[in-house]
Order: sequence, then C-alpha cells, then structure tokens
Amino acid sequence: MTSAEAEKRIKQLTDEINKHNHYYYVLSNPVIGDYDFDLLLEELVRLEKEFPDLSLPDSPTQRVGGDITKEFLQVTHKYPMLSLSNSYSEEEIVEFDTRTRKTLGGDTEYICELKYDGVAIGLTYREGYLVQAVTRGDGFQGDDVTTNIKTIKSIPLKLQGNYPVEFEIRGEVFMPRSSFNKLNEQREEEGLQAFANPRNAAAGSLKMQDSSAVARRNLDCFLYNILGEDLPFDNHYQNLTSAREWGLKVSNFIARYKNLSDIFDFINYWDKARKELDFDIDGVVIKVNSYRQQQQLGSTAKSPRWAIAYKFKAERTSTRLLSIDYQVGRTGAVTPVANLEPVKLAGTTVKRASLHNADIIKSLDLYYGDSVFIEKGGEIIPKVIHVDLSRRPTDARPVTFIDHCPECGTKLIREEGEATHYCPNENGCPPQIKGRLEHFISRKAMNIDSLGEGKIEILYDKGLVKEISDLYDLHFNKLIGLQTTYETTGDKKEIKISFREKTVNNILKGIEASKETNFEKVLYALGIRYVGETVAKKLAFHFGDIDELMSASFEELIAVEEIGDKIAESVLAYFQEEKHRQTIEKLRAKGIQFELKHQVSVKSDLLNGLSFVVSGTFKNYSREELKKKIEDLGGKNISSVSSKTDFLLAGDNMGPSKLKRARELGIRIISEEEFQNMTDPKGQM
Ligand code: IVH
Repeated sequence: MTSAEAEKRIKQLTDEINKHNHYYYVLSNPVIGDYDFDLLLEELVRLEKEFPDLSLPDSPTQRVGGDITKEFLQVTHKYPMLSLSNSYSEEEIVEFDTRTRKTLGGDTEYICELKYDGVAIGLTYREGYLVQAVTRGDGFQGDDVTTNIKTIKSIPLKLQGNYPVEFEIRGEVFMPRSSFNKLNEQREEEGLQAFANPRNAAAGSLKMQDSSAVARRNLDCFLYNILGEDLPFDNHYQNLTSAREWGLKVSNFIARYKNLSDIFDFINYWDKARKELDFDIDGVVIKVNSYRQQQQLGSTAKSPRWAIAYKFKAERTSTRLLSIDYQVGRTGAVTPVANLEPVKLAGTTVKRASLHNADIIKSLDLYYGDSVFIEKGGEIIPKVIHVDLSRRPTDARPVTFIDHCPECGTKLIREEGEATHYCPNENGCPPQIKGRLEHFISRKAMNIDSLGEGKIEILYDKGLVKEISDLYDLHFNKLIGLQTTYETTGDKKEIKISFREKTVNNILKGIEASKETNFEKVLYALGIRYVGETVAKKLAFHFGDIDELMSASFEELIAVEEIGDKIAESVLAYFQEEKHRQTIEKLRAKGIQFELKHQVSVKSDLLNGLSFVVSGTFKNYSREELKKKIEDLGGKNISSVSSKTDFLLAGDNMGPSKLKRARELGIRIISEEEFQNMTDPKGQM
C-alpha cells in the first residue's frame, strides 16, 4: 500500500470507527456487531503501526491507552469549578425559588437534571478537538488527566457539526454499576481491596498512571455545563442540547419547568426510578436557564446562586446480621464490622456494614442473627440503622464487645468518655505497626508510592522494617530477590510478588525522594493520634520546627487555633515516649525535614496604607493566600476598583469590567510575579 492510499484508508477507518463509537457509547444504538467493529479497529491498528506518521489526532486507537503519566500536571481552571449548594427538603426548594424570583423581579424558567454521583471533569475543545481534560481539584486548580480521559469512548476526540471554536464542557465521569460490580468481583479474586462504591472506583481510575489500565475500567461520562465566549445561545438548555449535535453525551433526562409542582414531580419520579439506572445519582440539580438571569443572580465564593441540588434521602433495606469482625487500625482503635447476608442496596451488593463502636452496638441492642435495617447515604460504608425486634430468632445471643485484641491477644482499653476500644500494644500488634508504616508512606504523608500495593507488608513480614525509621536503612542488597507468595481468599489462587532490579531501584528512589517532604507532611506522617492533615499543618506553621513542638507545654499547644485539649494531650503523650523521640532523632539524622523550609509569611508594614483589589486566578498562590499576605504586610484588601485603589493584582480570567475600570482610573495593574517581587524579591513568600 502506498503512503497516499494508507492516508486515505486511515482517515476512512478513523471516521468510521468514531462514528460507531458514537452510535454505541453515546446514543446506545449500535449499528454493527462487535465482530465487524473489531475488524475495522484491527485494520486501523495495523495501518497506524506501519505508517505511524499518518495516524490522526482523533484516532480511536488512543482509546486503548498506553501512555503513562508519572505525575499529573496541575492546571488552573479558566473558569473556577464551583460546587452546588445542597438541599434536602421541598421547603428548601421553595425558598430557593422565592429568593430567585425576588432577585429577578419575576418569573423564570428552570432546567432540571440528574445529579450524577461521580467525579467532576472539565473538557476543553478547540477547533473541534479535545485538547484538555482537568479534574476539579480545589476548584481553582485541578489535575490534567487528558490521556486517561481519552480512553472514555463516549467522550468524542473530535466534534461534528457547527460547534464553537473554543469552549469548555463540564460533566461527571462515572463507572456504570455493572462495570463496578464486575471490577470488584475481579479485585476480590485477586486479593485486592474492593472499591467502596462506583464513585471511588471512578476517582481511583482517573488517577491511574497507566492509561491502558484506565481504558479497561469502562468509565463513562455525562456532560452538563458549557462555558465559553462564543456559545450559540443565551441559555443553558439550548446550548446543552446543541452539544448533543456536536457528538457530546448529554443525558436525555433533562426537563424545562416553570412551576415548582413540576419540579417536585421530577424529583419524586427520579427518587424511585434511579434504582433502575445503571449509574448512581444522588439527587436532582435545578438550574436557572437564562444566562442573563444567571449573571443577575451571581455566585457566592463556593456556589452559584442560580442553581441548587436536591439530594435524595439515603436508601434503606433489611438483611440479617451473621457475625461481627473486629478490625484493628494503625492507632490501635478497634472497629466492629458487621458481616451481613449479602443484599442489594443502591445498586451494589452489601455484605458488610460499619458498627463504629461498642456504644453503637449497645444502643442498637444487637443480637446475632438479628434482622437489621441498613442505610447507604453519601458515605462510603453502609450503616446499621435499627433492628427489627419482631424478627429476632428466639434462641439469639446478644452481641457483646470483645475484651481482647483479635490480632495480638492484649487486653483492650477504653478511656473515660471515649467510645472507642483500643489495643494498647502499640509496638507489638502487627496491624498497628503495619498500619503506621502504610500511613507513613501514603500519598498525603511521605508519598512513597513505590512501596504501595502490599510491598510494605512484605518488608514487615520479612522483618526488614519494624518501624518507620527502618525504611531509611534499606539498601539494594537487602531488597533484591525478595519474594513472597500470597494466597487469595476466593479461589486460592497464588500471587507471587518478587522484587526485581527495577522495582528495588524505584523503591529506593522513592525513599530517597521522601527526604524532601515538607515538615507539615512529615508531622502528619508520624501518625500521632488526632493529628490529621489540617492539625499537622496548623502545628507545623505555628511552631516552625519539631524541637519547638516537642518542648511545647499543654497551654502553648491549646493556644494554637483549632487545637483542643484532646489533641494537645495526644501530642504531649506522643513526644513523652522515649521510643518516639528516638525515631525522630534517627529520621532527622537521615535527612528528613523537621522544620519549615521558609515561613509562610513574615509580618511587616511593607504595604502600610496601600489598598489592593485581588481578582482572577493565580498560578502559585490562591487568592486567599495573596489576600492574607497583603494583610500581613499591613495592606488593605478591597473588593471593588475605585479611585482609592492603589493596585489591582490581576490573575487569569478576571472580570473585564474590573480591568477596564482600573485602566480608566489609571490604577497600577500588577501580575502575581510583580507582586511577588514587590513583597519578597527572594521569592520566599
Ligand atoms: S452543574 C456551578 N449539573 O455536583 C455548578 N453539577 O456539588 C456546576 N454534578 O461539582 C455544576 N450532576 O460535580 C451540575 N447535572 C449536574 C450535575 C452536577 C452532578 C456534580 C458536579 C458538581 C457537584 C456539585
């Protein structure tokens, strides 16, 4: 085949396969069978291999993935990704409607949509091509997951028809329940932890490094919001429905209403009908249709005033309590978990439910064999709500909480006023030690992901790592060739894990890199009880280094914002233990960061008497951080540009009116970099 012939055929096949993907995944209406489809795809794969330069940017072969993303790039959203305010009752919807009409001074038209329970995504199309896909992140910045998103077959790589030159369309990536159930069955067979719900599975999938693994996850996506400067219509509904004509997947379950009673009918209908869907929805979204009216209503910092979410009440069902397992966590906390007769609830099969602690078991008055009601709300694990006493078997025995640790046999303790039982054998109880190690390496702590997926467990089982500081004694010869065989519970399949050269080098590299982890994360990684991410940050920023923190008194600790008695006592108790002090010294000697790299902000009067308007989104700092910096330096933040304004600190995507007014008034407009130079020429903000 000549190159010209190949070019023509590749174009033909690309278009043809994309068309069939659209029929199958967007319209749910395939026109050819799987076999014929596979033949076309195979032919294209073959041709692209032979003529790699001729493959097209919208080639469907990208859908199978293959590219690896080591680290997702952080991207600033062109338009901040707000969330919706929630409501749980009809009254709140009535109030929303009253408020809306009052502001608008008359009637309005609402659009009702389903509230998909997945992961928010923003897709940018330029000249008809999908150019970027970004997760919500903190609303201002998200992760660039374009490579992974391209594996979702219902998301077109190239649009058709009369689309705007550039726009962003937002939606929700989700995992259909059928795929979710299959995936979890498979994971359980492989001895991997099952995902708690389809939303977690979708979120986990989008963050995978290997896009071909993402392709196998069968994700899907509904789109629900368009943003852009040259959209064809002045309202949400018409733009969204035109997006369908461009090949985008917009749900058919959208309605236009003027009356509240119609909205309530829509809500009530879907509260029942949602059980029949192959994907999770957790409510209904009500939006004001007209863009002009949306603008008139505006937004708060978090959510638009022109939309509201109505959240469904949690689904319930009943089943039988078979037995109770007691799980020991890294802090020694013992959590009772109910094993239930498997039952379908909100689209998934439930076998277990959390019972939280002894008090909850007592208040439920739980007996083995009881028929119990379970509920699944927004949270991950279903809860046992109450017992159906009328169905209690006559010979049933009451559930009593265990006295001894199921893992190491130590007598459990329960402190005054505490609901949780603890195993005090901190240094000898395997799940506690392993749990601490796993916490230490976890993403939000030291982020040593090369030790994930059971590897740390092997190191512990082999006696190579008994506590966190041992990680920094590992070297190549200790690790190479390490092997273990695990038996999965399901079909007794054996899984072999062996440490080959590449794995070992990755592990060592990850450990080495962790020495750069910021102090606040190190503090979190230590796993001090009650010191979560936020508390660790507060403590780190307040005390500046570990020595200051270690010598802080109870009074000094509780003087820190948000630190109460319980946390203070826990911090004191942690540092009083000789063993912990030794660990810290050992870690310090290995080069772990035990002090802040630089102060977040040094107070001074550099900006005394100057007024700033901070607007738009910024690359290095959030708007709040910049405002705080201005205040710390003695400056004043004002919200609108006037003759009294000294500086307009302008970020991306700021409103054109502010910019215009600042220009008219001759106010100095500075960028983030200029501000940085002005306030801290060394760049140490
Ligand atoms: S519109 C400015 N429509 O719910 C608000 N959001 O808590 C734009 N969601 O972050 C969102 N279904 O991830 C909108 N039909 C729908 C939705 C929807 C689900 C999610 C979205 C958003 C969250 C809000």
